[in-house]
Amino acid sequence: MNLFTPVTLGLLSLENRILMAPLTRMRAGDDGVPGPLAAEYYAQRASAGLIISEATQISPLGKGYPATPGIYSDSQVAAWRTVTDAVHARGGKIVLQLWHVGRISHSSLHPDEGLPVAPSAIQPAGKVYTASWSLAEYETPRALTLEEIGQLKADYVHAAHQAKAAGFDGVELHAANGYLLDQFLQDRTNQRTDAYGGSIANRCKLVLEILEAIIPVWGSGRVGIRLSPYGTFNDIADSDPKALFAHLINALNRFNLSYLHLIEPRATTAGGSDQLVADAPRTGQMFRSLFTGKVVLAGGFDQASAEKAIADGEADAIAFGRLFIANPDLPKRFELKAPLNPYQRPTFYGGNEKGYTDYPAL
Ligand code: FNR
Repeated sequence: MNLFTPVTLGLLSLENRILMAPLTRMRAGDDGVPGPLAAEYYAQRASAGLIISEATQISPLGKGYPATPGIYSDSQVAAWRTVTDAVHARGGKIVLQLWHVGRISHSSLHPDEGLPVAPSAIQPAGKVYTASWSLAEYETPRALTLEEIGQLKADYVHAAHQAKAAGFDGVELHAANGYLLDQFLQDRTNQRTDAYGGSIANRCKLVLEILEAIIPVWGSGRVGIRLSPYGTFNDIADSDPKALFAHLINALNRFNLSYLHLIEPRATTAGGSDQLVADAPRTGQMFRSLFTGKVVLAGGFDQASAEKAIADGEADAIAFGRLFIANPDLPKRFELKAPLNPYQRPTFYGGNEKGYTDYPAL
């Protein structure tokens, strides 16, 4: 078995195990409509076994950066439809990553909604991009009320329907990297005293309830989830990550999900550093045996380490982030052992075709 052995993740039958990781590129319009080059960008990468879209906000409050796309409005759906059509025309498959940033945001990004929201009113350390792309201190978010949590679940369900209308092959629930759902999971950010805080079971409740709510829209075989145990990106932390994520992963088994996607904490800056964290825990090794379904791993993989993870049974597929930004034909290059284009960090976020659709194929 290797990266080119076909694999089935739930109801998704993939031609190879080389996945495109979700990658925010900040090239959408102000109204969260994917930009004019998005269809070409994704279609260029359609030889991935599966494309996971860039994180896409489920609601205006779910937005945390300038120029990220949404899936809640019909104009957003129409633009995403051009993307899914272009990927399908090239024989590819694409799922949408459902995103709510929680406290990793700024009120300038959603002026009608006001302050960012979070499980608890705890200001993140670090700096945030405002709507005008300037850096500012994070604001102290507002803690969500129980009533608002009910609305939040409804927003996820709406977004799941919209993703279906846009022609995606499924959805990935973004519960990683210190964004809203991760903020509920981990106790640095969740200090609630109601049913959504306190015990590990309570902190896992929201993620499980959202899965329960969106699975009827898609069927469990087209719903995946992304987690980042031991990650520190976006000022996230937990007092006992091993117990927390073991509990959650065990609880996920009952859903029969398409896949569990784990980001190795050695890449905890979410691709923000070229260096991997030395001595980081290996979460694929730690948690693989707890999950009864298919596992996707991401974070700092190259072809050799990906082949090894597949051969060792640590993962069923590997998602590549930065290598896919720079190499639209990554599977072909792996197959031929061809040289890889180096990625250009300054064009990761924002801008135009430069560093987006102009990386050459072989
Ligand atoms: C990311 N990453 C990321 N993760 C996620 O879940 N949703 C997202 O939208 C993004 N956006 C994003 C943008 C950019 C420019 C980078 C570099 C990274 C994290 C990404 O999916 C992946 O986990 C990391 O890049 C580590 O994998 P690689 O790059 O070492 O293969």
